Amino acid sequence: MRLELSDGDPATSPADLVCIGACDGEELPAWLAGAPGAADARTGFKELAMLRPGVPARVLVVGLGRRGDLDPERARVAAALAAREAGRVGAASIAWAVPDHERQASIGAALTTGTILAGYRFDRFKRDDEDGPEARVGALTLLGAVDPEGRAETARVAAEAANRARDLQNLPANVADPAYLAARAGEIAEHGAVELEVLGPPELEREGMGGLLAVGAGSAKDPALIVLRYRGGGASRLGFVGKAVTFDTGGISLKPPASMPEMKMDMSGGAAVLEATAAVAELGLAVDLVSVLPTVENMPDGAAIRPGDVITQLNGLTVEVNNTDAEGRLILADALTWTARQGAERIVDVATLTGAVVVALGSTYAGLVANDDGWAGEVAAAGEAVGELAWRLPLHREYTEMTKGKIADLANAGSKRKAGPLFAAAFLEQFTEGVTWAHLDIAGTAWDVGREYVGKGASGFGTRLLVELARRHAARPAGRA
Ligand code: BES
Ligand code: MN
Ligand code: ZN
Repeated sequence: MRLELSDGDPATSPADLVCIGACDGEELPAWLAGAPGAADARTGFKELAMLRPGVPARVLVVGLGRRGDLDPERARVAAALAAREAGRVGAASIAWAVPDHERQASIGAALTTGTILAGYRFDRFKRDDEDGPEARVGALTLLGAVDPEGRAETARVAAEAANRARDLQNLPANVADPAYLAARAGEIAEHGAVELEVLGPPELEREGMGGLLAVGAGSAKDPALIVLRYRGGGASRLGFVGKAVTFDTGGISLKPPASMPEMKMDMSGGAAVLEATAAVAELGLAVDLVSVLPTVENMPDGAAIRPGDVITQLNGLTVEVNNTDAEGRLILADALTWTARQGAERIVDVATLTGAVVVALGSTYAGLVANDDGWAGEVAAAGEAVGELAWRLPLHREYTEMTKGKIADLANAGSKRKAGPLFAAAFLEQFTEGVTWAHLDIAGTAWDVGREYVGKGASGFGTRLLVELARRHAARPAGRA
């Protein structure tokens, strides 16, 4: 979507739809007061009224509630509702009069985000509808935005990246397989500051990535470790790691049929990492980044790992694979060790890791586990700023104790269903080589969030959080990382 910042007057905007926020106890601007429809304007949050002043042709008054309650989240919601109205009336361009606010740049960025995310559709496998596809909003103008740091442009790039991540999530597993993700990484590496490395089976053998190889053994498709290195020349060396299981049948510990079709989205963490990396490069942020996707298909066949098999991970720890459906931690374990050894100073992994986190936190918060309070706080704060929420859950010696194996160092799953997300996190922590690390379990937030600006289906969760995290690190003066 095209984004423009302008100091123009809403009353003379040429946009197909002009959007104006209305707060409790405040009057409509004088030029709108007598317009047809003005009597219907309401200020309650999320109330909408379409006015037809003639010039501009259409003005949407969007209720924002109390001015003191206005924040970026409300702006994202308001923008999403406006974008939906724009689609309904066939408007191809929107202009938003950015409401006055002490953090006006954040509000402008949030309006941009809400507009772009709400306009997302995945219809590439559908024949055109009889009534034709709904009009798409192709241009957004922010009127009266004060934005010295270019926050709206950052939001635009990040939201477009999130929509590309949603495409990857939505693509079925017969299309988006490990080779497809590697090809997408290759496109991202066409950017001059990004370099691609793909480790296939021979390299994985040579390195000793027993987890990734074991999970991949049952599939006709080769597993891979996809690596993108971005050099933005900043003070921070970040590592992003994304679980990219392109389909999770559970393997020999086969999932029940009802819960299987959705498992094409078990690469959501990888999708977020890939597209966030593309966005960071597009924005030219001053950070160094290594982005790593262990990618694999978890299938049952004659070569698949069996429950009870013992494997050796990259760091030398042996693992009893008691449940082949707990595959994410096996591939992430190798990827985390590898990323730490690449010199990343702060690592975040993003993974659709456990069904239990969906039970605990639903689709509102991702589970966040970290070995460092400062880093946990930074990850949560970046997410809060962009509307991708994460709630911290604990590491504890007793969870680590639960991961001990009977005949090997570790087991990948417990016999009881205790503390599923924390068993998994305590397992992962043992592969981080002591590097500052945070883990986001996005099994609940990757799909069916159902918020106004993300709706049902793929959410792209994590993409915008990661871009915001990189932006905040890039904003730091060198030496203060
Ligand atoms: N990919 C699943 C987790 C998942 C569940 C993602 C629901 C999205 C929605 C993961 O690989 C898995 O199967 N986890 C198991 C672990 C268990 C066997 C210890 C689970 O959560 O049931
Ligand atoms: Mn699984
Ligand atoms: Zn999985």
